[in-house]
Amino acid sequence: MFLASRIIDHYSQEFYTTTHEIGIGDMAFLSPLFRLKSPCRLNFTVVKRARISTQAWKLSYHSIKMTYNVLLFFVLSPCFVHDRDSCDLKNENSCGEISKGSRAKYYTSPSRSNIINISSTLTLNDGVKIPIFGLGVYQAGSGEETRNAVHWALENHYLQIDTAARYNNEASVGEALRESGIPRGDIFVVTKLYDDDHGYEETFKAFNKSLGNLGLEYVDLYLMHSPVPDKVVPSWNAMVKLQHQGLIRSIGVSNFGIHHLEELKKHSTVVPSVNQIEVHPFLQENALVNYCRKEGIAIQAYSPLTRGEKLGHPTLKAIGDKHEKTPAQILLRWCIQKGYICIPKSSQLSRIEENASIFDFELTDDDLNILDGLEEDFRTGRPKIKEPWNG
Ligand SMILES: NC(=O)c1ccc[n+]([C@@H]2O[C@H](COP(=O)([O-])OP(=O)(O)OC[C@H]3O[C@@H](n4cnc5c(N)ncnc54)[C@H](OP(=O)(O)O)[C@@H]3O)[C@@H](O)[C@H]2O)c1
Repeated sequence: MFLASRIIDHYSQEFYTTTHEIGIGDMAFLSPLFRLKSPCRLNFTVVKRARISTQAWKLSYHSIKMTYNVLLFFVLSPCFVHDRDSCDLKNENSCGEISKGSRAKYYTSPSRSNIINISSTLTLNDGVKIPIFGLGVYQAGSGEETRNAVHWALENHYLQIDTAARYNNEASVGEALRESGIPRGDIFVVTKLYDDDHGYEETFKAFNKSLGNLGLEYVDLYLMHSPVPDKVVPSWNAMVKLQHQGLIRSIGVSNFGIHHLEELKKHSTVVPSVNQIEVHPFLQENALVNYCRKEGIAIQAYSPLTRGEKLGHPTLKAIGDKHEKTPAQILLRWCIQKGYICIPKSSQLSRIEENASIFDFELTDDDLNILDGLEEDFRTGRPKIKEPWNG
């Protein structure tokens, strides 16, 4: 269609240019003079014919163009509606594959497009948009270390910070956010309810403490750090209430297995928006990931760099060399192309920069297959919580 339009435009333009160049239309008013000499009369006839054919051409050109435009409108209008709907209107740059997938409320299929960038967002099952990339601050010391890391991350366009009551650095995260001068609404802040603070009333208390530490008026995502037997439901109910009160935009869980999520479903109609779990090529958790996708729960991948333990793996190095990227960047790009929310931790400026520089290349299908082949149930974090949970 587009090609047809270009051809029509090209030829009509060429036609008008030609007629103007030889001046046929403009010379027509001189026609009485042409009668003086027979050669001129001949010329006049040519001019008249040319004018008639010009008008006929114009008429047919306009009707073809109009038909084309009507057809184009009907063919393309659904696409325009789709694109507008699926983009994060606050940020033009986020109109990537991830945002497109978000029409289904949550991200369902892996993306391999390099259209996505550090500002791309994923729409959670409650409609909240979460940046797909952020900084984790586990084991970053409170004070200067965390403040510097957050500053460097913000300077490098990270839009999400993942902290937790347990990390003992919420206050430093909050300070850095205020010092940055970046509007609160532009940064997505995640914190977590720690295991010792479970229970209905206890959760309100713990949340308010976190909010006070952060010095914020609301948290974007509040996660239950892990499923504490017999305490999950009351804590979850408190989190639901805090969300209704507008103090939390989105609520989710962390370190939940399928059986935990199944149990929670029996006790609450509110589905967690996120399950934050350890995921990387060496621990892919495919059954859990597929379950979460089916249930509309986004995966937030922690320890995406395997805490550095697998960065010397020859496969990561080989794929990295091919793309002129480091093993760390290969792991992070794998995470993004799998459709996970990715939160690498670093306290070093050069690594914060390096980790963010993963949106200018794309892993191929072959690369992804090779990386998928690295599964070895290698867990850097806490051991898998296998025991059944009773509510
Ligand atoms: N929900 C949970 O239970 C849970 C558990 C663990 C983690 N998390 C979250 O997920 C975040 C990330 O996970 P993680 O901290 O466990 O591990 P990670 O991000 O996989 O790895 C962090 C480690 O890798 C190093 N590193 C960072 N970038 C590097 C690079 N480009 N090259 C070489 N080494 C690099 C860091 O050291 P430097 O700082 O010195 O650069 C740090 O030692 C945490 O910070 C936290 O927010 C959540």
